Amino acid sequence: MPVLKFPDGFLFGAATASHQIEGGQCNDWSEWEKKNADRLAAESEASFPWNPNWKKFEEEATDPKNYISGSACDSWNRYEEDFDILGELHLKAYRFSIEWSRIEPQEGIFDEEAIDRYRLMIRSLRARGIEPFVTLWHWTLPLWIAHRGGVVAQDFPERFRLYTEKIVASLGEDVTFWITLNEPDVVSSHAYLKGAWPPQRKSYFLFLKAIHGLIDAHTLAYQAIKEKYPAAQVGIAKHQVAFEMKRPTLFNRLLKSIAHYCWNRYFLNRIGNHQDFIGLNHYNRNVIDNGFNKNPNERQTDFGWEYYPESIFQAIMELTPYDKPIYITENGIADASDMLRQDFIPRTLAAVHHAMEEGADVRGFFYWSLLDNFEWDKGYWLRFGLVSVDRKTHDRTIRPSARSYGETARTRTLEIPLLKKKTLA
Ligand code: FCB
Repeated sequence: MPVLKFPDGFLFGAATASHQIEGGQCNDWSEWEKKNADRLAAESEASFPWNPNWKKFEEEATDPKNYISGSACDSWNRYEEDFDILGELHLKAYRFSIEWSRIEPQEGIFDEEAIDRYRLMIRSLRARGIEPFVTLWHWTLPLWIAHRGGVVAQDFPERFRLYTEKIVASLGEDVTFWITLNEPDVVSSHAYLKGAWPPQRKSYFLFLKAIHGLIDAHTLAYQAIKEKYPAAQVGIAKHQVAFEMKRPTLFNRLLKSIAHYCWNRYFLNRIGNHQDFIGLNHYNRNVIDNGFNKNPNERQTDFGWEYYPESIFQAIMELTPYDKPIYITENGIADASDMLRQDFIPRTLAAVHHAMEEGADVRGFFYWSLLDNFEWDKGYWLRFGLVSVDRKTHDRTIRPSARSYGETARTRTLEIPLLKKKTLA
């Protein structure tokens, strides 16, 4: 059986986000959930006819309670338990986010107690030899900025800079890796192109405004961090799709290059040298054949997304022209049975290893997610966790896939029965 070896220093980790795990939030999403839970429950059946797994989740997904984040995983109080699990799994890196609405509940007024709690978290990770990767914004907003338009508010970049400055002044000594923004393109397109996420304002103009507001916000935050800590490593977590042509026709080539430029490259190009590494979030390929989404879908995850772990190879290789270190800041699947995940993680890691052999400078991998958590407008029925969380008691149970991932992390080796190598189309 072939054995793959990962270099010393390669970080194996897991990722989460504040709104999805902490519980007890008061932000634009928690308000939106209360107003939209009934609608989301009622619409769920109609929005999932294409999901072959729908029947398994129908009961949960048609219940309005599923759409209220509420106490989430209660990680605001149980973070020590979460970090013990990271330790038990031999994971040496943890990506989590700071909740802006806790830090600055009112404009210009900072909550020192909340900051102290994040300081404790960071120190508690460090005490276990776990490297914190701190995300400054994973989509949720304090109500005061949301009420003025959120990311499209004129002063959004400046307010984000001030928040960043405060966090960096308070926590910067203990943090090396900062992720300013999570998937700016996903959140902007869901909010302003699809009109599905808060603030549900469908307008192409607002979409562009959001993207450019976020480019400016990132740039200002990058400068603020580097001014105080020049050695800090700062980047974004960028959602990348592997656009693949079924046949290399002229038209398919044209579609692929437009999609690749607009979705995968535009934001990264615009932030240019204001990034020390690229955080890669990867979940999907998109097969093109005279149109998009022509994926064979031979197997699907609980979400209904195509199961195809090898697409991460292309997503990584397409980042190599930027000549920056790459951290895979998110990658995972929704799989309540955990059967697919046990196949998914080794196959993904084999594809990551293959990309490294081909010259990609990949330095770490964060599985999404450490815990079963609140999956935005889908709520709780999707289970992405290495660890399942009981919705009533919040008890955590480590899944078998997590144990094998932990063994890979401990030994830095991966035994794979069948190596599926992919070349770029
Ligand atoms: C990503 C998000 C993350 C989670 C996963 C499944 O797009 O960054 O919060 O929802 O998808």
